[in-house]
Amino acid sequence: MQQRDIFASKIGIIAAAAGSAIGLGNLWKFPYMAGKYGGSAFIIIYIIAIILMGYPLIYSEFAIGRKTKVNAADAFGKVVNKKCWNITGILSVISICLITTFYLMITGWVVYYFFQSVTGNLYVVPEGIDASVHFTNIFSSMSASMWIPAILGTVAAIATGFINSLGIKEGIEKYSKILMPILAVLFIGLIAYSTTLSGFKQSVLFLFQPNFTALTPTVVIAAIGQAFFSLSIGMGILVTYGSYISEKEDIRHIAKSVCVADTLIALFAGLLIFPAVFTYNLEPTQGPSLIFMSLPQVFLKMPGGRWFSALFFLFVFIAALTSLVSMLEIPITYLQERTHWNRKKTTWTIVTFSCLASYIITAGEGPLSSIHIFGMTIFGVLDYLTNNITIPLAAVLIAVLVGWVWKTDNLNAELAIGGRGEKFTDKILTFFLKWITPVLIVILMVSLLTGVQP
Ligand code: PHE
Repeated sequence: MQQRDIFASKIGIIAAAAGSAIGLGNLWKFPYMAGKYGGSAFIIIYIIAIILMGYPLIYSEFAIGRKTKVNAADAFGKVVNKKCWNITGILSVISICLITTFYLMITGWVVYYFFQSVTGNLYVVPEGIDASVHFTNIFSSMSASMWIPAILGTVAAIATGFINSLGIKEGIEKYSKILMPILAVLFIGLIAYSTTLSGFKQSVLFLFQPNFTALTPTVVIAAIGQAFFSLSIGMGILVTYGSYISEKEDIRHIAKSVCVADTLIALFAGLLIFPAVFTYNLEPTQGPSLIFMSLPQVFLKMPGGRWFSALFFLFVFIAALTSLVSMLEIPITYLQERTHWNRKKTTWTIVTFSCLASYIITAGEGPLSSIHIFGMTIFGVLDYLTNNITIPLAAVLIAVLVGWVWKTDNLNAELAIGGRGEKFTDKILTFFLKWITPVLIVILMVSLLTGVQP
């Protein structure tokens, strides 16, 4: 049997896990979801979900991975010695494959905006045309053309494959440790600028002033789904990374660091984007195109704005890249363990299939955009399906598995290896894991699917 690679350092694991968590979910999806679902109502639920549901699920996934040391599809069955529980892993792998397809497309959009910023074309507004119309036109013509995002998404997939093909220590860990600090510096600079915009105060109120009138089951499930998406929960990633964590490490501590970093970046992304939205009278509810239309307005008015714009899209690209690396790692580990191929062959096979699948989604936004399923494009369906159904469902299964089948005593015993117990918080979080997480999510999903609002 091949020797399993492991992460060499704690900071490397945190960088890789935070690299997975921090991505388009924080920078592109969180702001438009918050905008669509009423701002602060969404955000309050989001934060509660991260602390009481997300955090225990993260360390549970890590613990299962470290205990079993196998790929995500087999780990859940192995930890309780019951093959039927592999359904959890299979659901996770399905989610991740679906997400990768549209993630590559959005990353392609980001790369396009990066190049358009560097060349300055994005900011050449034709005479007599309003800037917001200009940015809308650029976005529409990019997605309609299909081949631009397809080619650029492929470039992103190749960059990802390059890192994955080098393995855990030399690839994922090494590059995460380089890329994540760059990300932090770029981000702090952008936020500092955003505080100087006139819409800053309004956006703080929109995001943080409690407003429970917007609170509906739809908002709650969307916020929980987004919290899990953002933390990469229920997708086998944390189980897989857990399988590479050494027994010396404190899993709880790693999980906590990931939660804090991911939440801060999401909230700051809101603070970065909404001042632009309010300053230039854009619609907060605009959806997936929000960052591509709001921020260019700001950059347009700034001296040297196109370079800030290039930096911003570079920043988003790096965040997306470290997430893509984690996504591809799931099918790579799975395929490699099944076929015993070497890492390079496995990686490039997965990259090829991911690209081919992503072209379908890209076409669905372009030449095939007339195809609508339940009133949504193919991308819209996948986004909805994963956010509201497959990810929450996998989370329910993990919570039930850990709380009732594997049992929290065994979880705590695994966590105690390399870590210290936290008696009081453990009790509360165990209660949530066993009772609240599964019951609440099931109720919400039923109400969403049946259209009955409790
Ligand atoms: N958590 C990542 C983000 O916020 C997205 C992601 C989903 C990463 C699934 C890996 C797996 O962008």
